[in-house]
Amino acid sequence: MKITVSLIKADVGGLAGHSRVHPDLKAEASLVLESAKNSGKLIDYYVTSVGDDLQLLMTHKEGENSSYVHGLAWEAFIRATEIAKKYKLYGAGQDLLKDTFSGNLKGMGPGVAEMEIEERKSEPIAVFMMDKTEPGAFNLPIYKMFADPFNTPGLVIDPHMHDGFEFEVWDVIAHKKIILKTPEEMYDLLALIGSKSRYIIKRVYPSQKNPHLSHEPVAVVSTDKLHEIAGKYVGKDDPVGIVRGQAGLPAMGEILEAFSFPHLVSGWMRGSHNGPLMPVSIEDAIPSRFDGPPRVIGLGFQLAEGKLIGPADLLGERAFDQAREIALTMTEFMRRNGPFEPHRLPDEEMEYTTMPEVQKKLQKRMVDL
Ligand code: 13P
Ligand code: 13P
Ligand code: MG
Ligand code: MG
Repeated sequence: MKITVSLIKADVGGLAGHSRVHPDLKAEASLVLESAKNSGKLIDYYVTSVGDDLQLLMTHKEGENSSYVHGLAWEAFIRATEIAKKYKLYGAGQDLLKDTFSGNLKGMGPGVAEMEIEERKSEPIAVFMMDKTEPGAFNLPIYKMFADPFNTPGLVIDPHMHDGFEFEVWDVIAHKKIILKTPEEMYDLLALIGSKSRYIIKRVYPSQKNPHLSHEPVAVVSTDKLHEIAGKYVGKDDPVGIVRGQAGLPAMGEILEAFSFPHLVSGWMRGSHNGPLMPVSIEDAIPSRFDGPPRVIGLGFQLAEGKLIGPADLLGERAFDQAREIALTMTEFMRRNGPFEPHRLPDEEMEYTTMPEVQKKLQKRMVDL
């Protein structure tokens, strides 16, 4: 049976500032999805939040880019926005860039990660949701899961994994994409995805050579670029991703291992700073210090005929305490750099902030050397 898993998110207002989502917004979104479930159009759903981003996880048989499912998410965001406006939450409706829905969420502001798959005998999935960063923050962990044998011993031990994986990488500046195969094109892949604000891993597939797995996506990341869509900066594009595990794919523990190192990502305060990506529990998915540090939560589900059995809070427990400690040490270290690079992002990434206004003001006083 073909099932589509759709994870759609938007920031429609924060309590207080950019910190978290008011529970009434989640309740309102749940009402919309509950009625779709009762009518049989959705198989199942789970509503949550990370930081100020409202997250809608849905399963259905409508396929990817379904106007019904995207329209449903839009309706849930619109209704949550109405409450956000009434409560005067910060940035109410921030990510809803258009007035009317026209069949697809592409270019409308919300972030979308979805995959249509044939549900296996057992289908463990992990959904990862980040706040105060950008889609390229997924490059390093997704690479580690599917291509780094020091992270994923299955690449060495499991003969079914020796054929490797194919990475679909998007150039979000030039609007092009390329497929790169690992292990054979690993260096080429790293050459691109190390530039994480431009080249973003969109999907991962098992190798076409692999006779044991069908050529369906095994990981997908949202790549919607808000500042390109809107023509002006409206906040970093906090990303989400879905990863399938086990039986010829990385084991759940190999998937999670990729988050044991709190790597540096861009985002954080005013979408303008580098900082560590801290893995946290659902309870701790609430940025604070300097509007951060950037955070990621992981929720585990087993699909059962499309039903979402779970969630398991995957990154909250003790084994990630050390990653959190390192992230906090890094937070202090980075913060001490104040307004200096590389804590602050390089000039070309400040283009979408209010910084150019300051530079313009000073331009008049610049004289030739
Ligand atoms: P179990 O023996 O607990 O099923 O674990 C197998 C495994 O591969 C863990 O990574
Ligand atoms: P969000 O992108 O999560 O809304 O954060 C924006 C910001 O400016 C944080 O300081
Ligand atoms: Mg916000
Ligand atoms: Mg956010």
